[in-house]
Amino acid sequence: MLTPDELQRVRAACLYEPPAYFRTLQKHEIFTPTAERPDAPLEVDVGCGDGSFLLDLAAAHPERDFLGLEKLLGRARKVARQAARRGLTNVKAMQIDSPYAVRHLLPRGGVARIHLLFPDPWPKAKHAKNRLVQPDFCRDVHRLLGRGGEWLFKTDHAEYFDEATAVIRGSGIFREVDWPEGAFAYPLTDFERQWLGEGKTIRRARFAAE
Ligand SMILES: C[S@@+](CC[C@H](N)C(=O)[O-])C[C@H]1O[C@@H](n2cnc3c(N)ncnc32)[C@H](O)[C@@H]1O
Repeated sequence: MLTPDELQRVRAACLYEPPAYFRTLQKHEIFTPTAERPDAPLEVDVGCGDGSFLLDLAAAHPERDFLGLEKLLGRARKVARQAARRGLTNVKAMQIDSPYAVRHLLPRGGVARIHLLFPDPWPKAKHAKNRLVQPDFCRDVHRLLGRGGEWLFKTDHAEYFDEATAVIRGSGIFREVDWPEGAFAYPLTDFERQWLGEGKTIRRARFAAE
């Protein structure tokens, strides 16, 4: 059991603030390598929300590191608080605009998997420019993933699924990979639980960087 001071220290460590915002980070600046885990693969959850997916995945994979990107400070803080409470040292949350982090901050070729789960679909045509999956974003994601690195995508929104997967396929730099039910452990997200509770159909796609 952690003392309140220890809990506070661990929580602060889980809320990641980069040492600089105007240069690309090295992987070791986000998670310090240890003798037991000199080169742990890094996974990134884009728009991690309250983080239950990220925290469950991190708990299941102590050999890997997990970074959540979230624009709302309250949500990023909640992820950090839960990580500290659960004693997880392989998960951090960063409050940031994810397209900025993906383009400018995160280590190129340094990410093993990117999770994009239930991003805001921005269904109105006048808001289309806000949709995250655009050709530029595909190129930015591709730069982060080493060859064979994976991009996993889920949404409840049929039109957005079709549009986003068409953009990813059309980029010509990803290969679609089968993702059969139960292929590997993949925790539910907070929003997914809600949509499943409402009887919505969840669509998913998995791509490997060429
Ligand atoms: C619909 S929620 C999904 C949350 C989580 N992935 C889940 O499935 O439970 C979308 C999340 O993305 C965050 N978000 C939206 N735009 C973002 C951006 N530009 N950068 C970082 N986070 C963003 C929102 O604040 C919200 O927490």
